[in-house]
Amino acid sequence: MKYAREILSDVEGYVPGEQPKTADIVKLNTNENPYPASPKVLEALAEMGPDALRTYPDPVASKLRAACAKLYGYPNEAWVIAGNGMDEILALALRTFVDPGDAVLTPYPTYSLYKILTQLHGAVYVEDDLDDRYQLCESFFGRKARLCLLSRPNAPTGVASPREEVERLCKEFEGIVLIDEAYVDFAEDSCMDFPRRFENVIVARTFSKSYSLAGMRLGTATANPDLIREFLKTKDSYNLNAFTQAAGIAAIEDREHFEVTVAKVKATRSRLTDALRGLGFAVQQSQANFVLARWQGQPDAEGIFEALRARNILVRYFKMRGLKDCLRISVGTEGETDTLLEALRAIIR
Ligand SMILES: Cc1ncc(COP(=O)(O)O)c(C=O)c1O
Repeated sequence: MKYAREILSDVEGYVPGEQPKTADIVKLNTNENPYPASPKVLEALAEMGPDALRTYPDPVASKLRAACAKLYGYPNEAWVIAGNGMDEILALALRTFVDPGDAVLTPYPTYSLYKILTQLHGAVYVEDDLDDRYQLCESFFGRKARLCLLSRPNAPTGVASPREEVERLCKEFEGIVLIDEAYVDFAEDSCMDFPRRFENVIVARTFSKSYSLAGMRLGTATANPDLIREFLKTKDSYNLNAFTQAAGIAAIEDREHFEVTVAKVKATRSRLTDALRGLGFAVQQSQANFVLARWQGQPDAEGIFEALRARNILVRYFKMRGLKDCLRISVGTEGETDTLLEALRAIIR
């Protein structure tokens, strides 16, 4: 079996040890936020004394979980668990609720890590194709599995299933439904109220996108306290370092910075969508901080991907069924978007 890390480079276009950081590279391939995190985060980190390095962190991240519970509209930290990025939360969900040999259900296409984690766990990966508008088909509702992983908005499509459909799924599905809301802060609505209403529902979030903290590694799961207690039993003792805990609290407290940043990304997403359509791409309305752009002309999508890369502009190309004529493009700054569009105009001319 391939090492997970090797496979990860396939998933997100990440090359270990080769994170491009130079000012010359326009990096629109991993859906990071183009704007910096709140300055309050850097202040909180600067205030951490040497004791924060010398001593172990709070193993259950109580203050951070309480801050998240308040943010998500829940009474206290018993409803939330925090992890080293949402990727850890996803791995923990498998470790906690799925036995090897059990089935894990997802739509296709979706976040590629689901398949890797499921296979590493020795569980059976069951995919049900989305329709041509990237919505769930009726067959999805009839499937049986121990765990359903549903990214809403979905990656790499940027499309969100209607809330009523997710609600129906939560009611009818016999196993646990994990709703991955990695991109929800850029969307029209969320399902964060579902854990209060359904005992089998987990809503997962990340600070990597809307809070610009991908490097910090912070994700959460919100669920009925019975499920959270099970999560707490299986997580590593000190899964979240002290700096990440402090950074998360500071980020939550700076609501204004969050709102301004999200609004800027959404405005650029609109401009990018219109411009791509003007160039002849078919683009579904995205509810995330990236767009999926379908291209039927010449050069083909892979050719455009290569030509952009030659110009130091990185977007995502998936050599996968149903996506071979698509590019996934993260929403960058206004300047990065101009650079991208200018390059596209030259390439497809
Ligand atoms: C759908 C989805 N879920 C989860 C993640 C992972 O988030 P994190 O950076 O918190 O591990 C990503 C990252 O791109 C994602 O696209």
